[in-house]
Amino acid sequence: MLFCDVSGSTGLGERLDAESVREIMLGYFGEMRRAIERHGGTVEKFIGDAVMAVFGVPVAHEDDAVRAVRAALDMGDRLVELNAQFDERFGVRLAVGIGLFSGEVVAGDASRGEALVTGDAVNIAARLEQAASPGEILLGEPTYRLVRHVAEVERVESIDAKGKSEPVPAYRLLSVASGRSESVRPAGGQMVGRTKEFGALRAVFSDVVTHRGCRLCVVLGEAGIGKSRLAAEFQKTIAATVVYGRCLPYGEGITYSPLAQIVKQAAGIRDEDSVEAARSGISALLASDPQGSRIALVLAQALGLMAGAASSEDIAWAARKFLEALARDGPVVVCLDDLQWAETGFLDLIESTAALSSGLPILLLGLARPELLLQRPRWEALRLEPLAAGEAAQLVVELADLDDGTRSRVIAKAGGNPFFVEELVAAVVEEPELELPATLDALLSARLDRLRPIERLLIERAAVEGEVFHRGAVEALSDDVSGPSITAALDALAAAELVRPAQSSFAGDVSFRFRNILIRDAAYRGIAKKVRAQLHERFANWLLEAVGERVAEHEEVLGYHLEQSYRSLTALGNADAHALLVAGRAAGWLASAGRRAFGRGDMAAAAGLLRRAASLLQVDPPRRLELLPELGKACRFAGDRTGAEAALREAVDQAATLGDRRLMTLSRVEHTFMRLYTDPGVETEDAIRVAEEALGIFAELDDERGLAQAWALIGHANWLLCRGARMEEAFTRALECTQRAGDPREQGWVLRMLALVYYHGPTPVERAIERCEDIVRLGQGHGAIEVSTRAKIAGLEAMRGRFDIARELYLQCRKVGEEFGLGPVLAALPNYSGPIELLAGDLDAAERELRTGFEALQALGETSTLSTNAALLARTLELQGRLDEAERFTILSEQKASADDVASQITWRGVRARILARRGRLEEAQRLARDGAGIAARTDFLVWRGETLLDLAQVLWLSGDAAAFSASAEEALRFFDAKGHVVLRDLTRAVIAKPVALGTP
Ligand SMILES: Nc1ncnc2c1ncn2[C@@H]1O[C@H](COP(=O)(O)OP(=O)(O)OP(=O)(O)O)[C@@H](O)[C@H]1O
Ligand SMILES: [Mg+2]
Repeated sequence: MLFCDVSGSTGLGERLDAESVREIMLGYFGEMRRAIERHGGTVEKFIGDAVMAVFGVPVAHEDDAVRAVRAALDMGDRLVELNAQFDERFGVRLAVGIGLFSGEVVAGDASRGEALVTGDAVNIAARLEQAASPGEILLGEPTYRLVRHVAEVERVESIDAKGKSEPVPAYRLLSVASGRSESVRPAGGQMVGRTKEFGALRAVFSDVVTHRGCRLCVVLGEAGIGKSRLAAEFQKTIAATVVYGRCLPYGEGITYSPLAQIVKQAAGIRDEDSVEAARSGISALLASDPQGSRIALVLAQALGLMAGAASSEDIAWAARKFLEALARDGPVVVCLDDLQWAETGFLDLIESTAALSSGLPILLLGLARPELLLQRPRWEALRLEPLAAGEAAQLVVELADLDDGTRSRVIAKAGGNPFFVEELVAAVVEEPELELPATLDALLSARLDRLRPIERLLIERAAVEGEVFHRGAVEALSDDVSGPSITAALDALAAAELVRPAQSSFAGDVSFRFRNILIRDAAYRGIAKKVRAQLHERFANWLLEAVGERVAEHEEVLGYHLEQSYRSLTALGNADAHALLVAGRAAGWLASAGRRAFGRGDMAAAAGLLRRAASLLQVDPPRRLELLPELGKACRFAGDRTGAEAALREAVDQAATLGDRRLMTLSRVEHTFMRLYTDPGVETEDAIRVAEEALGIFAELDDERGLAQAWALIGHANWLLCRGARMEEAFTRALECTQRAGDPREQGWVLRMLALVYYHGPTPVERAIERCEDIVRLGQGHGAIEVSTRAKIAGLEAMRGRFDIARELYLQCRKVGEEFGLGPVLAALPNYSGPIELLAGDLDAAERELRTGFEALQALGETSTLSTNAALLARTLELQGRLDEAERFTILSEQKASADDVASQITWRGVRARILARRGRLEEAQRLARDGAGIAARTDFLVWRGETLLDLAQVLWLSGDAAAFSASAEEALRFFDAKGHVVLRDLTRAVIAKPVALGTP
């Protein structure tokens, strides 16, 4: 910040007319502005006679402070020339005082007409300017530190500044060395090499712009090779909105952290904004999007700004829509750094954005170390290789003036890694005789060892927070160090290029970023375990205070730090009462984060977080037990059967030992659930008995959540048995319980099961449709619920003969499903649309639908939906008279279908029976048809029962048994009638009236 004001003028106002004063001031303002701009500054505004200017906004440079002091001196020189003219023409001279101060400021966005810069630095700069006598240039401490390598100054008396308890140190600027600014240490050098890579990135970018599409491109390379730098330099050369999100190296857990950074950045949200303000910031950005409020709602949930169970698919959809909204104003580059640490859920989000977004220019620019390829081997990647020897030499020359021998030693050792080059140069500049360490890590440690003790202390404390850290946090961890000493040390670290100023996420706080995370890691490694334990805990306390009500966004981070604290304590054998307290707190945050992950269906993340929480609670068995059923469930959904089994077995045993009836019952229910899913030997009736017993206990304990689980278990067991009426009752009760318990994460699943039973079960079509409409409403725009339920409504509409509506609906489902990227739901859709076309009598359309589904399911490696699809395809082909093909699909269905997959089992039998009968193999045909009808008869899925009987009737007719034919068809008719299946009812009636119409080729 630079302030300049007219601090002395010889009788300006009294002696001159307004006209002349104006001319003088315009001349003065114009010259000052030119001087400022010549050095890369921006005039913010004129306040009276004062000029306020900034350097390093919006784009910060390494040498902003140097530019500013040069500008200040230049302004003085200009004024000398101006005064000569003023004196001659008006007989006056102006004298100005200038104040300079460096620090974090909040800058408005000039493109939106906001130009104001605010912050402490502004006030102090203004104070310095007021304190400056005519002709004097005063610098504050941070500015001085940034320029002392080129500037000559003199310490003057400290000044008082408003809002500062201590006087602010001040320095008078005397002179600045001219020419290229020489830092005390070699600063980040000019970019060298990488022309090929720039070209490649530019080609991808212009492809994105010309084709208005979304592309994903990752730059891969080892640590320090220059990925982040390449991206930063690339951004400067293109006209695009750039948003940046970085994955945190916290291991499991913070799936959407990069998304949160991007959204907050784009919407201008700061960490201390209220939840309300944050949410309205997001909404404002989406105001012109017709789906804006929905997108904002889902994003708010993803960021933890509000409770809710937006699913991973919903979040991916909202993220995509958000980026598309940004891209409407011009190309967008989404820079995603350190993707090697991304959670699977986030990688999926990136993939689906790239696959599904179209029509708008979006470049997803990923940066990652090569291990990312293990997870995503097929991503388009640009390999960043080491610099060529010539380029490395160029970089060395950029950085320092070394003798030939040293230069060659550095180049040979660095192996083309620019970060290694920088560090080696820094080391030899400090200690020319240094024996060069062989590895980067050793080099970094050695470098940190040479820091002054206070700087060393503070860089370690900073490393506790992470790659980006806040001054406030460092302060909170350093109550043994005075404020000015902290400032001085941080400035020194910045001047040494170990850290750089960064965008702070808290107003009024300053933040920094380690130049490279390897420096952070090296600093962190230097901290003794005992100290680590304290620092992590204190950091968590600081963060908790700093984030206020917005704590939900930071749960994983809080949990992580407390977890680290506890781990450090136990590593030292200090499992005392305090350690246990820390473990408990850590577990609390991790468990809460795990439950949120569970709520959005991010089961891998949920299982990871809950497992960490449970592991911390080893010391607190009752609380650990509390988590185990949930952990078991998350593992089950995440496909980790062993994990689920272990958690649930322990839960059952432990609950028995502790005599906790509620948890014992809950664990048992959950365990039974798991076995129903995974263990073919388990008896469904046993499962129902367990659940019924649980109902009694939960009712006694007044535990709605428990009741919901028990009802859901009964519902699920009845689904396996295809007993619709009981299933409907159980899931209806489960729904009521989840609603009373306020448990949205359970509710989504229950709703989908209910839609299933309205479609298949005995509920008559009319009412089933109404109920399904209710479900869509209750699903509140949850993509998967909406699509799967509407598919059922489509099927039900077709049953009552409204084919246009049915078709309209399934097409709409397809659109929504594509929009949300619901691959599996989409692949299952033809199992509804196919039968609709069959009922409508359009066999070609039915075949088309089913074949599309067949291919999609095969691609997914899915078998259970596939076996039903194959059976339906067989039915279509049989009706077309293509018996051989039809038979092949019945065989496929038979091979793929599991024993309890009733839909497949009855359909392939029915169709095969018809084929056999048409070929005259009547006995076999009858046996198969009766088997099918027998299986269906164990259920109350009315349409299945009717259809199997109709198949049987067909076989009987071809067998020449008219009486049995009528009996069978009449019975089928009753089922269709009961369901309200108008189409098959009428068809069956027609067949009974004129049997010959059936099945003659
Ligand atoms: N082509 C280059 N010319 C000059 N300096 C470079 C170049 N590439 C990288 N650097 C410097 O090397 C250092 C390391 O680069 P950077 O931080 O981009 O590495 P990275 O690949 O992102 O590493 P990490 O995997 O640890 O994040 C930085 O200080 C950067 O400024
Ligand atoms: Mg990097």
